[in-house]
Amino acid sequence: MEVVPLDTAAEVATLAADTIEAVVAARPSAVLGLATGSTPLLTYAELVRRHEHGSAPSYAQVRCFNLDEYVGLPPGHPQSYRATIARELTDALGIAPDRVHGPDPEEAGLPTAGERYEAAIAAAGGIDLQVLGIGTDGHLAFNEPGSSLASLTRIKTLTERTRQDNARFFGSLDDVPRHVLTQGLGTILRARHLLLLATGAAKAAALAAAVEGPLAASSPASVLQLHPHVSVLLDREAASGLTRTAHYREVYDAKPAWQGL
Ligand code: F6R
Repeated sequence: MEVVPLDTAAEVATLAADTIEAVVAARPSAVLGLATGSTPLLTYAELVRRHEHGSAPSYAQVRCFNLDEYVGLPPGHPQSYRATIARELTDALGIAPDRVHGPDPEEAGLPTAGERYEAAIAAAGGIDLQVLGIGTDGHLAFNEPGSSLASLTRIKTLTERTRQDNARFFGSLDDVPRHVLTQGLGTILRARHLLLLATGAAKAAALAAAVEGPLAASSPASVLQLHPHVSVLLDREAASGLTRTAHYREVYDAKPAWQGL
């Protein structure tokens, strides 16, 4: 795992955008895995800014797979992750809607939604780069503490804490769905490169447990320790619970320029 302690959320967004662009430049038909939530928004805005400036690679051939989706929202709800990703990123990058996939939250199909999503990811050749955030309780995608480290896409129940964290996107806590469809931890491990972004002091404890704590289902993001290619980009506040920050920074500073993330 490569941990990159940076100063600000803006620096996290710049390096994340550089990394995503490098993947697309190297492989115009890249398959991107996209997280929602607040953390990647600066990165997505930076990608859109570069695209509008004309300095970005073409995204026309890119395909995207969303990390998760709420269950129980009406189709087209502005807080659905499908609508959020289109609004914040893919529409502005010129990625056609039929190239952007998400788990299907339609009620009648829920029992098979997980396996259908896994099959769609496999048919696309797998995910080249998966963008991730981390929950204050250590969740990765919506794999809450206790989730199987080998899990695949399936329906899950959100913890009260996650629903409270996400109530800011809805009118009230009661409006936050209880259920979600989420890529599993095993699904995430299949992506070729994982890019975890964490900013703000609220993430410090969960992040420290994931990076420096033991591998445990009680800390779902600790599953990243099993993946051969993980980049963790942090601002100063999110890194504040780590004990080896100076070492991580030294390693990053000493990297050969050609290596990238
Ligand atoms: C979003 C997702 C979640 C978020 C996490 C952090 O698709 O899967 O795991 O990444 O809840 O959310 P923010 O970034 O809003 O703090």
